[in-house]
Amino acid sequence: PLPRPFTVPLPIPPVARPVGENRYELTQRVGRVEIIPGTTTEVWGFDGVFPGPTLELRSGVQTTVRVRNQLPVPTSTHLHGGVTPPESDGYPTDVVVAEGRGFRPPRGMHGGGHDTSVWTFHPGAKDYVYPVGQRAATLWYHDHRMDFTAPQVWRGLAGFALVRDDEDDALPLPKGERDIPLLICDRAFEEDGSFRYPSLDPSLLVRPGVEEAFMEGVQGDVILVNGAPWPVLEVDTARYRLRLLNASNARRYRLELTGGVRFTQVGSDQGLLAEPVEHSSLVIAPGERFDVVVDFSEHAPGSEVTMVNTLGEGRTRNVMRFRVRSRVRDDSRIPRRLSDVPPADRAAAVTRRVFDFRLTRGGSGEMWTINGVPYRPGTPLAEPRLGTTEVWRFTSDFHHPVHVHLAHFQVLSRGKGGPAATDAGWKDTVDVRPYEVVDVLVRFDGFRGRYMLHCHNLEHEDMAMMADFQVV
Ligand code: C2O
Ligand code: CU
Repeated sequence: PLPRPFTVPLPIPPVARPVGENRYELTQRVGRVEIIPGTTTEVWGFDGVFPGPTLELRSGVQTTVRVRNQLPVPTSTHLHGGVTPPESDGYPTDVVVAEGRGFRPPRGMHGGGHDTSVWTFHPGAKDYVYPVGQRAATLWYHDHRMDFTAPQVWRGLAGFALVRDDEDDALPLPKGERDIPLLICDRAFEEDGSFRYPSLDPSLLVRPGVEEAFMEGVQGDVILVNGAPWPVLEVDTARYRLRLLNASNARRYRLELTGGVRFTQVGSDQGLLAEPVEHSSLVIAPGERFDVVVDFSEHAPGSEVTMVNTLGEGRTRNVMRFRVRSRVRDDSRIPRRLSDVPPADRAAAVTRRVFDFRLTRGGSGEMWTINGVPYRPGTPLAEPRLGTTEVWRFTSDFHHPVHVHLAHFQVLSRGKGGPAATDAGWKDTVDVRPYEVVDVLVRFDGFRGRYMLHCHNLEHEDMAMMADFQVV
């Protein structure tokens, strides 16, 4: 029995506690949690919880996270949005396997198998080193295992990583208890409370992939925020900073607040905008983040504001509710200038490349491809130079949220038009819609080496819609 919407209190994920100076340890293990009241759900979580503990990172402070794997499957952990050296970027074939479990490189999804030389294998644990040479932003970490990312994230392997810096701290935006990360995702459940997912091989050990009917991606009928179904949060008559993350495998949302309440966007995937942008609705695709301020100060105690998803129907129309509790004084404000974001200048690009995201018919049936080829680990489709800027054009036959590792970008255009209002600022994931042509200006900074771009519809990702690029 699903709970009535807006009855379960919104949980806030625990904050990870350091185990040494700038060192953390997260253990991927099986946990049992109560998601649907009265039942328990087996999750595969960092520290056995879902969402995983929030990593609080500081700009300029190198931090090491030891990820220990105690799950029955290999894992790879990616810091999404992180400017991370290649060996710590969570490459899909760079896996950690629980102590005592052997590892044999599996056969690939599309026949032929992957060249065994692309696999790296860490018994027990791996240290991921994050230099955090980047501005304040809402990042997240999640599993990225070759061919099995979608089912492993569905089971719970995801959490927030919040980068803070002096510039963001100095702004008079809402802070502390009024700065709230919201991980939004959909899940489906069996009668007994367990997660329902259409894997071809539920052991997730041998055969990757989902049943044919789920080619377009797997969606659930229950909307979770921070792991709770349609939760409710008690708020004061004050402004709140909400860090919205769409951590769903395949669902897009158009978020709106009832009563005409607006979102004031202050940040995007990669931190502060130059100036705030007002939205009455926000389309958020898998992998994207919006950092928004919502003002409850004009609302009487006892009143309610509901966040709805106007792309959903029935149950999936509800997301969460805010219930105004008490009248308080609020000193926060939204400054008219937030940060310096240089205007995107197409002329700065040294090269233009096209990446075409599309369903391709091949020898082994239909598959999701980039430029007509299924993912081949170790075969880069591009070799951008460190320190340069390029225009990347994404073309598409469907909804494909395109994510680029390492490099951040600004949206230049959508089709013949300019960027959408929701495209502002520095981003790492962009919602590319069916038959759309999206140009972004990508900056390659930080590290040389092997990285990837891919569709963040996680089923598409597992069905080979990924590509390597090599920063030279
Ligand atoms: Cu959030 Cu390569 O992924
Ligand atoms: Cu896709």
